[in-house]
This record gives sequence, C-alpha cells and structure tokens, in this order.
Amino acid sequence: MNQRTILVTSALPYANGHIHIGHLVEYLQTDIWVRFQRLRGHRCVYMCADDTHGTAIMIRARQEGTTEEELIGRMNEAHRRDFAGFDIQFDNYGSTHSPENRALCQEIWSAIRRAGLVSTQQVEQLYDAQAGTFLADRFVKGTCPKCAAPNQYGDSCDRCGAHYSPTELVDPKSTLSDTTPEVRTADHLFINIERLHDFLTEWTRSGDHLQTEVANYLAGHFLNEPLHDWDVSRPAPYFGFEIPDSPGNYWYVWFDAPIGYMASTRQWCDRRGERFDDWWRSDRTEIHHFIGKDITYFHTLFWPAMLKTSGFSLPTKVHIHGFLTVGGEKMSKSKGTFILASTYLKHLNPSYLRYYYASKLGPRVDDIDLNLDEFVARVNADLVGKVVNLASRTAKFVEKTGLSAVYPADGGLFDQAARDGQAIAEAYEQCDYNRAMRLVMAVADRANQYIEHAEPWNLRKDPAKARALQDVCTIGLNLFRQLAVYLAPVLPRLAEQTGALLHQPIARWDESRTPLVGTPVARFEHMLTRVDPKEIEAMIDESRAADEPQATVSAWDDGPEPLAAEPLAETCSFDEFVKVDLRVARVVEAEAVPQADKLVRLTVSLGGDKRLNVFAGIKSAYAPEDLLGRLVVCVANLAPRKMKFGTSEGMVVASGTGGKDIFLLSPDAGAKPGQRVH
Ligand code: MSP
Ligand code: ZN
Repeated sequence: MNQRTILVTSALPYANGHIHIGHLVEYLQTDIWVRFQRLRGHRCVYMCADDTHGTAIMIRARQEGTTEEELIGRMNEAHRRDFAGFDIQFDNYGSTHSPENRALCQEIWSAIRRAGLVSTQQVEQLYDAQAGTFLADRFVKGTCPKCAAPNQYGDSCDRCGAHYSPTELVDPKSTLSDTTPEVRTADHLFINIERLHDFLTEWTRSGDHLQTEVANYLAGHFLNEPLHDWDVSRPAPYFGFEIPDSPGNYWYVWFDAPIGYMASTRQWCDRRGERFDDWWRSDRTEIHHFIGKDITYFHTLFWPAMLKTSGFSLPTKVHIHGFLTVGGEKMSKSKGTFILASTYLKHLNPSYLRYYYASKLGPRVDDIDLNLDEFVARVNADLVGKVVNLASRTAKFVEKTGLSAVYPADGGLFDQAARDGQAIAEAYEQCDYNRAMRLVMAVADRANQYIEHAEPWNLRKDPAKARALQDVCTIGLNLFRQLAVYLAPVLPRLAEQTGALLHQPIARWDESRTPLVGTPVARFEHMLTRVDPKEIEAMIDESRAADEPQATVSAWDDGPEPLAAEPLAETCSFDEFVKVDLRVARVVEAEAVPQADKLVRLTVSLGGDKRLNVFAGIKSAYAPEDLLGRLVVCVANLAPRKMKFGTSEGMVVASGTGGKDIFLLSPDAGAKPGQRVH
C-alpha cells in the first residue's frame, strides 16, 4: 500500500472560554479520523492551537483584572488538559500568539501586498467611549434593520438570517457598558478577494475539496456575485499583532487565526527536525481541515485565497460538521445542558462520548443531537452489552490454557468480519462514522449469536468438553479482537486493554485479517462499566449550578504579605480625606519619556476639554499604547510639580511594589471621566 502523508487540523478554539461538549463534536471527529489513518499505516500528524487574539480576549482580561498573556496562558493549559482527558492527541498544540505565527503572518501579508490586493478604506465602526474600545460585531446588540427583531447581534439576525454591518442596527447598545455607542471613522486595510473569484469558483467546485452541499451553498450565497473586499485590520486598542507596515493597526483575528495552523506545524517541525515546506509547500502532503459550519466561509473562501496568493499548498479537503444540540435544543446554561468538558469528566468515562458521537456523526453538515436517554441506552447496549461482554464471557475460560493452537472452524464468521473491514474502513475514510459503527455492531451481533448458541458457560461444566470450550473461546476472543481493531480509532483505551488481554498490542488495521492462535490470555480485567444514569443527573445539576465563570476559591486565598510590608497609616479625619480630590479620568495620550527609564507621560481627560498632564512611574509595567483609552483614578488637585521633562499636574493612583508589580486602579464599567471618587 502506498503511504499517504497527511496533515490534519481542527479549528483553533477561542482562548476566551473553556472547552464544552459542543466543541468536542469536532475534536473527537478529527481525533478519530487521525487515529484511523495511522492505524491504516499512513503518516498523519494532527495540529491545533488556541485562537488568542481579538476584542473578546481583551475585554475578558480587562474584566478579570489580568493581562491578555496571563489569560491565554491559563486557558491554553486548561484546553490541553480537557483534550487530554478525552484522549484527543495532538502532535502539537500551539497558540496564535507565538513568534512563529507572527513571522508567518508577515510572510503571507507581504505576498498579498506584493500581489497588489491591499487597499485602505475608511470604515465607520461603533465605538464604546466608556469602555474605550471599538466594538466587534458580537459586542453590539440592537434591532434587526431588515425584520425589526429586537436584541440581535451586530453581524447577523437570528430570526431572518440577514447579514449587515453593526452601524445598520436600529438602536444599537454596547454589551460592554449598555451605553449607545458612537460611530467613529478609522482607516482599515482590505484585501480584494474578488480578484481570486475565478480561482475560488474553480477550487470550490472541483477535486472533492468540499462536501457537495457546502460547494452548493457557496455557489448560491457568495460566488454568484462579486466578492466584497475583506476588512483585515483593526485599529488600537486591539489584542493581536500590529501590522508592521501600518503602525497602530492590527491584523483582524480571522487573518492570523488560520495561519496558526501553519505556525503550529512550524513549531512541531522545529522540534522534530522536519522541513516545514514538506508539509505546507508540497504536492505529496494532503491537508485536511475539520471545522464547524459556522466558520465555513473563512475556510473555504478567504483561507484558500490567502494560501493561493502566498504560494502555499491548498487544502485537500475541508470537512465541515454541524452543530450539537442537546435534547433537540441549543445547549443551555439554565437547563444544565451547557456541559463543560471538565464537568463531564468528573462524572463519566470519555469513551462513552467518543462512541456516542461516532455513532451520530455522518459525512454531511447536519446538526447532531445528544439525547441523554439514548446516550445511556446506546452505550450500555452496544459497548457493554455487545462488545465488552464478548470478552468477559469468554476470556476467563481460557485464562489457564490460552488460545487453541489452530484456529477452529467458525462457519466463516472470522472471514466475513475480516471482509467487512473494507466497508468499515471506507466509512471511516469518508467521515461516515455512523455507518462504520452500524457495520461494526452488525459484526458484534453475529459474534454474540454464535456465543449464545455455543454456550461456553455450559461447556465448562463438562470436563470432556474442555477442547470444545477452548475452541469456542478462541473464536469468541478473535471476533472480539476484530471489533477492538475496528473500534480502535474511537476507543483507544479498549484497544489497549485488548492488547494487554491477548498479549498482542493493536497497532494496525490489518490485524483484523489474521486470527491469533496458540497465544496466552491474561486475567480478564473489567474494561468498561455501564453508564450510571445517576451520574448523568449529577453532571446536569453541576452544569446548571455553574452559570458564569466565578472567581475560584483559591483566588480568595489572599496572603498577609502586602499589608505586612506596608502597615496602615495613622487615622485621618473625613475632612482630611476629602481634601484629596480623586477623579475618574481617561488616558487620551500616552508616551514613554525616552530619557527616564520609569516614566510615562500621560494626558488624562476629566471630560469636556479639561485635561491634565501627568508623569507616572509605570513604564516598567505598562506599555504606553496599552494605556490609551483606559479609565484611571487620578488625584486631580495635587499641586503642580516641575520635573526635568515638564510639569506634572496630577497623579494616577496604583498599587504594587514597583517593576512589573504595578497595578493601576480602574473604575468599573459605567463610570464617567470627571466623576469624583469618594
Ligand atoms: N476560533 C475560531 C476558529 C478559528 S480556526 C482558524 C472558532 N473557535 S470556537 O471555539 O468558537 O469553535 C471551535 C470549533 O468548535 C469550531 O469549528 C466550531 O464550529 C466548533 N463548535 C463550537 N461550538 C459547537 C457546537 N455547539 N457544536 C458543534 N461544533 C461547535 O470558531
Ligand atoms: Zn432580522
């Protein structure tokens, strides 16, 4: 067989939230496919990373009073832990906030510039003056301009499906501050993808790159009219990579996110001494992306356009799946069906979900429903009742003797199951896991009928039938082993247990074609228990209880050191206190003072045209550009002080011991510059 070289990716999960059972549809679908390819003897690597940039991360970091880097570092660990808990095995799990990604973004950007596809255009964007930030579409809600449905996001309407710009919303409100945002104009950079229209029409239509329904959808919704220029930059403040040839502007998160697939590969290549170009600039390597239907056009229009322009390989196939519903409805926090991966793992075995999703996933884009009663019934009936049972009812009778030396006549059962391997493999290849599982269970049904008919538990009672007993169990265990091979992509743990039981690890699909004979059998250890419905209930209850991410207990575990280092000052009277006039202020200018290694010069606004010039010793902890637009608390009536570089007219208040350990105070969202603090 000729060995294929395959690079596989799943979409990069956003770093602003935890992995939930909806995400797992995709990562399990992909992991199963990767394991299948490896079992077939192909070279297959699986790359993923966290998607770390954008407004949402910036806002969440702000809300949690932390830096973006700290937040994405913490999330990266949590994501890795959750995936590992479900036996999802990446060859590399990176981050889009990496030097590799920055370099690749630069490379691709230069190519797009050189191709003459970039233009500058003025964009009206909604700006939340209180939060000091432009608002991404998801941070604006208002009334749909087409159908007047209230409470719709800034990009599209849930009710009528219309796509529009947030500035078209009727009565828009910022979800950050609940204030009415203002329209501000800024220069954005655009990529002209209409110039690649013909290429995209051809690419989406040919070569089985897309599921037919996806190709039709694109043809009918996007490729039937000129493609709009794609807005790929965002003005500061933004958490991302600043565009080198356009200071003050950042690549929009969807520009750098897919490049993260490559950056993750590069990290892996550097670690393993592989050549990057063998993976991303080679006709020999297949590239398979697995994604959900919500991010289709990024991967089927923009991404191929970027790759094409910069001379990298195009995807061999983009596999698109539907969305998860639970009990026929969208996952819901209040119903307890918004289940985090980590919550699931506290209650249930990951193999259950791996199997259940496999049994539901087909090659099409249809949504899949998790029905909890069906989940219990299917896992118990199929995995425990049909598969594991086969081993538990036979292994113990041959613990002492091992398998028969010659494979006994079994009426063609083994051969038939070996032949079925072909159709099962084809189903896996086409991501038709549902069909694969049905075929496997049909094999299991025949094996169980055989055992029920042969009744090893009765043969065992008659010493004269010892040989017959050994033969029946040899057949039963070999049929079981075939099932374990066929299920190995879905149930790696079962494959491992089977390897241990029969002293022969399962490493290749072809092992389903030759029976084991004359080999020892280990003591049977239980493999998989039945699902306990009480655990499902407990999982739902726990999910319901955990509405919003709350501060963890350890976050409250504050030590006594800071107070001890600086004990309380002597009592002051109220009159003394009010002499100090503290005000909410907004930083409207910020620049490092080059001659002073600690100082930043700020202009803070108290609203209207009242401004103060302030020198603050915070350079070691804050980059000036990160201060721009934020709210601070300022001592506004401090006597002006002449300094070497100018006059300081106030003070911004902060805590900490200096160096990196400096923390500016910020008012809660809603506070307005000029308000007195008391
Ligand atoms: N960060 C982007 C992807 C960038 S890829 C260059 C993103 N992240 S996500 O965390 O929102 O979603 C990650 C993947 O999980 C997406 O493919 C998405 O479709 C999938 N799913 C998220 N929720 C899902 C369900 N409820 N059901 C099925 N898949 C879901 O999109
Ligand atoms: Zn609408």
